[in-house]
Amino acid sequence: MAPEFLSWLTDGSTPLYLAPQAGVSESPFRRLCRRFGADVVVSEFVSAAGIVRNTERSHGYLRFDDAERPIGIQIFGADPSVMADAAALVAEVYAPDFIDINFGCPVKKVVKRNGGSGCLRDLDLVERIIRAVVAATPLPTTVKIRSGFDEATRDPVGIALRCQDAGARVLCLHARTRADMYGGHARWSEIRDVAAALEIPVIGNGDIACGEDARRMRDETGCAGVMIARGSHGDPWIFRRARAALDGDPMPSEPDVDERFAVCLEHARNAIAFENDSDRAIVDFRKHLGWYTKGLPDGRRLRTELFQSNTLEDVESMLERYRSEQGALASV
Ligand SMILES: Cc1cc2nc3c(=O)[nH]c(=O)nc-3n(C[C@H](O)[C@H](O)[C@H](O)COP(=O)(O)O)c2cc1C
Repeated sequence: MAPEFLSWLTDGSTPLYLAPQAGVSESPFRRLCRRFGADVVVSEFVSAAGIVRNTERSHGYLRFDDAERPIGIQIFGADPSVMADAAALVAEVYAPDFIDINFGCPVKKVVKRNGGSGCLRDLDLVERIIRAVVAATPLPTTVKIRSGFDEATRDPVGIALRCQDAGARVLCLHARTRADMYGGHARWSEIRDVAAALEIPVIGNGDIACGEDARRMRDETGCAGVMIARGSHGDPWIFRRARAALDGDPMPSEPDVDERFAVCLEHARNAIAFENDSDRAIVDFRKHLGWYTKGLPDGRRLRTELFQSNTLEDVESMLERYRSEQGALASV
C-alpha cells in the first residue's frame, strides 16, 4: 500500500512539510512542528559516507520518534553505490517513511565533493544516484533540488524531468540556484512550470514567511505540497496558520508570550534529553532562543542575556525574570 503521505499529495489536501535543515530540523523540533500542523517532516541531511562508515555522529542524526511520522531521512553524497548502501541501511535499521536525496545543499565543503547542489553540474550523476537509491530500498525515494547550479545551468524543468525518469516519487524544488544561495526571491514561476511538466507530485519551497504565503504558493503554482524552512524558526505555529490559510478557515491567533516561552522551554528540555552532552546541547540551542524571542518588547536585551546561558536553569530564570519585569511594566 502506498504510504499515506503519497496519497495526500494527489488528493488535493496540500500537505505541509517541515524542510530538512541542518542543526534545526532535529527530532525535538520535528515533534513540535508535527504537533502544530506540519503533516510531513524531513531530517537534516546526513552524509551517506558517514552512515556506511557507521560514525556515531551520522547515526545520531537518524534517530526519530514514531510521533514524527511520516518522516523522511535525507541523505547526501556523490557516489551512487555509497548512496545506495546508505539508503538500504537507513531503510532496514531506522525504517523511515521515505528516503530523500539532497541535491540542493549549497555549502562549499559539500559541493566541493560533488555532494548536494554540486551534483547539479552533472545530471548523468544525478540520474545514477537516484536509480541506485531506488533499486536499493523498497521505500519511496524523493528528491530535493535547486533550479540549477548557476544561471548558466538554470533548468528546473529539465532537471526535474530527469529526476522523475530516474524513479523519484516526489520532487521538491527550492526555486533558487546554488549561486543564488539564499539571495533574491525564490522564483515561484519555476515551481509552477515544474508542477505542470511532471507526473509525480511537486512540493514547492522557498520564502514562505507566513500562513497566507502557503496559500499563495499553492494557488499560483499548483504545487501538491508546501515546504517551510526559515519561516518555522522560533515559530512552529506557522504550520497551523498555513493550514488555516490553505483550508480557508479563520486564522488562529498568534501565541502569546506565555505560550511562546512554554514551548521554547519544552523544546530546550527535549533538545537536552536528546543529546548526550547537555552543555553542548544548550549552546547549540541558543539560536532557537534568539528565534523564539524575536519581536518581543526589549527583546534585544533578553537575547544578549540568553546567548550567555550555559544551563537550562539559566534559561528558565532569564525567561521568568523577563516575564515579571514586563508584567511589572504593564501594571505601572
Ligand atoms: C539552517 C538551514 C539548514 C538547512 N539545511 C538543509 C539540509 O540539511 N538539507 C536541505 O535539503 N536543505 C537545507 N536547507 C534549505 C531548506 O530546506 C530550504 O530549501 C531553504 O531554506 C528555502 O526554504 P525557506 O525559504 O522556507 O527557508 C537549510 C536551510 C537552512 C536555513
